[in-house]
Amino acid sequence: MAAASVFERVLDYANRADPYPLYRELREKPVWREADGSYVVSRYRDIVALLHDPRLSSRNVGLGGFIHQDPPEHDRIRRILDRHYGPPETPDRIDRMEPDLLEIVTGLIDGFTGRTEIDLVDDFSYPLPVTAICRLLGVPLEDEPRFHAWADAVIDGLGPPAHTPEQARRKATDALAEMGEYFAILIDAHRAVVGEDLLSAIVADASTREGMSRAELTANAALLLIAGHETTVNLITNGMLTLLRHPDMLDRVRREPEFVIRTVEELLRYEPPVHFLLRVALDDVDIAGTTIPADATIHLAVASGSRDPHHVPDPDRFDPDRHDLERIDVDARESQHLGFGGGVHHCFGAPLARLETQLALTELALRLENPRLLADPPPYRPNPVLRGPRHLRIGFDRVR
Ligand code: HEM
Repeated sequence: MAAASVFERVLDYANRADPYPLYRELREKPVWREADGSYVVSRYRDIVALLHDPRLSSRNVGLGGFIHQDPPEHDRIRRILDRHYGPPETPDRIDRMEPDLLEIVTGLIDGFTGRTEIDLVDDFSYPLPVTAICRLLGVPLEDEPRFHAWADAVIDGLGPPAHTPEQARRKATDALAEMGEYFAILIDAHRAVVGEDLLSAIVADASTREGMSRAELTANAALLLIAGHETTVNLITNGMLTLLRHPDMLDRVRREPEFVIRTVEELLRYEPPVHFLLRVALDDVDIAGTTIPADATIHLAVASGSRDPHHVPDPDRFDPDRHDLERIDVDARESQHLGFGGGVHHCFGAPLARLETQLALTELALRLENPRLLADPPPYRPNPVLRGPRHLRIGFDRVR
């Protein structure tokens, strides 16, 4: 049997807690061809070039919704959603959520009173983004157990295609079908009673010339619910893990209100929730001296690209000060990381994810007295693409 490739070792659960030395090995060669015919690209410059290359398609397995469409269909849906959601035209929907988000964060931390130990994932990082995305979309929070199960099934089915069991992919397809039915009913309800939420705004817009069909509406509502679920959980959890490993930085988050903005940016570079993006070549594509043939699957190792020493100096050092406040919050071309991807699919939820994580880390830093990790490294979830701890046990003296 052939020795495992570097990419196969990345996928091996034994390396989930620290894949970064393997990413360093990946970057020794710009393009790797895997035994299954797929390709892996791991250097910053090459990944950015490919994210902006129209010969790469996002029409691959999985989710449905505009994340897996190419321009011009993608752009039409994204324009409609952008109009009701956020930058550049209307940044206020997310800004307006700030008091709500702070209330959710405060409520969750109040719940720790009387305890000296929590599992950050189950007790905080998971409920926060779920509650936030439900409020944004106008989805009843009581239905959470149902879409928790759907989201888990979809995420499990999202691994690299050749390494994801058939059964996991079937379960993901079934979960998406059930979500579609759920949203079809919910969308009718929002049509009948129009609220302040994003779904109401989009449903009302479906009557306009540029509006979405019913199938597009249900697929994209399901996409937003799932995309807003798992990724933010991991950013918050990775964030506390990293800050507890760097107590001087946790202290600065506590003392300097603006420092958290740089911290979240650096976390998106240093411990990002999304490690690989999947694309399919529509044509032969030359990159760094290799021709990737049409129809090949390409894994863009974004978490590796963000640690490329040709892009950022001393990349394995956690250093929030490397980020320039003036340049944060624009788009992927300006930032020093690939945490939100880049090009036309640059994360739609970035403003919400940033704000939630900034509030979460600030309040945890301020209110947990003498916090410490009870297990390091923590146990990780199996998924190598959306990577994060399954549990994060934190001890503290009391809640302030
Ligand atoms: C796209 C990361 C939170 C909605 C993306 C992409 C990345 C990403 C890397 C690019 C995917 C690709 O190019 O194939 C993250 C991270 C998050 C986060 C790290 C949290 C820390 C959210 C939230 C929402 C969301 C909260 C929903 C409100 C989306 C959508 C897309 C996307 C809809 C597709 C955009 C498009 O195709 O134009 N995200 N995301 N994300 N994200 Fe996020």
